[in-house]
Amino acid sequence: MKARLSGRVALVTGATGGIGDAVVRRFAAEDATVVVTDVDPGRCQEVAEELTKAGGRAVGLGLDVTDERAWESVVNEVGTSLGGISVLVNNAGIARMTDVETETLETWEEVLAVTQRGVWLGMKHAGPVIERSGGGSIVNVSSIFGTVGGFGGQFSYHAAKGAVRLMTKNAALHWATRGVRVNSVHPGFIETPLSRKLWRGTSRLDAMIGNTPMGRLGRTGEVADAVLFLASDESSFVTGSELYVDGGYTAR
Ligand SMILES: NC(=O)c1ccc[n+]([C@@H]2O[C@H](COP(=O)([O-])OP(=O)(O)OC[C@H]3O[C@@H](n4cnc5c(N)ncnc54)[C@H](O)[C@@H]3O)[C@@H](O)[C@H]2O)c1
Repeated sequence: MKARLSGRVALVTGATGGIGDAVVRRFAAEDATVVVTDVDPGRCQEVAEELTKAGGRAVGLGLDVTDERAWESVVNEVGTSLGGISVLVNNAGIARMTDVETETLETWEEVLAVTQRGVWLGMKHAGPVIERSGGGSIVNVSSIFGTVGGFGGQFSYHAAKGAVRLMTKNAALHWATRGVRVNSVHPGFIETPLSRKLWRGTSRLDAMIGNTPMGRLGRTGEVADAVLFLASDESSFVTGSELYVDGGYTAR
């Protein structure tokens, strides 16, 4: 059987974190040429080397998603050296434990810069290259917190993730007849190395599991599978949609 991303160049942001790491490993296993990007170029190169040693094809590049010049430079470099881009996964995102009252202008700007502006800049700069490369797919990682109010905290994170959900639909309509599909993935509570450290033994962990109908946290690989579906031709008639990977959280 043909691998699901053969001949595709896939750029992933925040690719050395929990979910991003799972995505680049899935993509490499499906024969994509993976561009591993994150803020620390050294760590990106290490992950790319691991993927290459395991038989995949990957390059690692530093990319701060808040920086428009950095986007221009990375997209140019990838377009030239790898011959185009077929898949963009806007995965980088950050949250702060603020609420509507404790949010400051500083935390607001910081969270929106990465989690909202970064997604727009990615679509703006990689979208046209995807179109010129013969079409492809953009997958924006939102959250259940882009759709529902959660626990009434992480105010700026909800603002940004809600925007990601709607920017996805707007961009999907913009490119609908031009071969660029745009969809969002909405993870629920996912266990990552970072979250395991932060949440172990806390009441927050109990609340997350207790509020998830399936009664457990999600795995990064389960999010990567959803991203892979939207990145591949299996979703060729899917655009502007939102895919929940949340153990039933938003079904209630
Ligand atoms: N883990 C969860 O439970 C969960 C749930 C819903 C949504 N999400 C979303 O999934 C995505 C990945 O989350 P994760 O759990 O793997 O988090 P993570 O913190 O492990 O990974 C996020 C990555 O983004 C990178 N990043 C931060 N600022 C950046 C910037 N300016 N430019 C480029 N990269 C930057 C970090 O270096 C990190 O590698 C995020 O968008 C997050 O909001 C996660």
